[in-house]
Amino acid sequence: MSMTDEAPRLIERPVAAGDPSAAPGMPSEATDNGVVFRSEDVNVYYGSFRAVRDVSFDVPRNQIMALIGPSGCGKSTVLRCYNRMNDLIKDARVTGTITYRGTNLYDERVDPVEVRRRIGMVFQKPNPFPKSIYDNVAYGPRVAGQKKGLDDIVENSLRKAALWEEVSDRLKDSALGLSGGQQQRLCIARAIAVGPDVLLMDEPCSALDPIATARIEDLMQEIKQDYTIMIVTHNMQQAARVSDTTAFFTADIHSESDTRTGILVEVDTTQKIFSNPSDERTENYVTGRFG
Ligand SMILES: Nc1ncnc2c1ncn2[C@@H]1O[C@H](COP(=O)(O)OP(=O)(O)O)[C@@H](O)[C@H]1O
Ligand SMILES: [Mg+2]
Repeated sequence: MSMTDEAPRLIERPVAAGDPSAAPGMPSEATDNGVVFRSEDVNVYYGSFRAVRDVSFDVPRNQIMALIGPSGCGKSTVLRCYNRMNDLIKDARVTGTITYRGTNLYDERVDPVEVRRRIGMVFQKPNPFPKSIYDNVAYGPRVAGQKKGLDDIVENSLRKAALWEEVSDRLKDSALGLSGGQQQRLCIARAIAVGPDVLLMDEPCSALDPIATARIEDLMQEIKQDYTIMIVTHNMQQAARVSDTTAFFTADIHSESDTRTGILVEVDTTQKIFSNPSDERTENYVTGRFG
């Protein structure tokens, strides 16, 4: 399936209402073959340093995909390609093709702000704004110009993020007074509030205690029917517990130039990656034999 020659239809810069060239709606799920993202030969450079090389794989819809591998192998770099966060890093350059539901994400007609609304991100360290709980969740919709229905959006987003019961009586309190685990769920609520399709999570639990981590993992299971989730985790038990598919990356070390390039070793069902992987490098990593 390739729709990359067609004009991007779903994440264009906004067109004036009534404009005959206005884009039709989002492709239906029946037309995406169950694939949300397809990457082909993706390379990411920071200046002249190639951080990841020739990464190609598909991301299935309504599943949780884990990206695992040793530190520095390019997991965060790859994750940032999917919502064009690397655009914001000086000197970063992405080559190859990434399509989102058939649309080339890097087409010049695609609006990166709209991309980041559809494809939200949650970071390692919870980063609530120094505002009230309510204002954190309402932030995205307000920026998008929404004025009505904010109470409902805030409540629904907090419910989805499994935080409503804990904060419904103190929505006007500062988000900074929440525990780390609550702050991370608030960040998930904030991401959900703008109606995304995909959530990218970069080690979302690594600053949390085991109880808060379990809450986030449960939450991921509950929301995956509505979203596609990609999670970077250095915690292999977590990848095994939460994900449906797993991509294993490693660093290819060039002894002559003393540089390391991240490569994708294999992608498969999580079950297979952790029980009977195809590649010896994966086996060594998941069994803990990796150096
Ligand atoms: N903003 C950046 N500028 C320059 N190099 C970077 C930047 N971010 C990451 N890198 C380099 O790219 C490689 C991959 O990093 P990263 O994607 O953070 O790996 P991981 O998430 O797997 O630990 C590393 O060598 C890292 O030093
Ligand atoms: Mg990382």
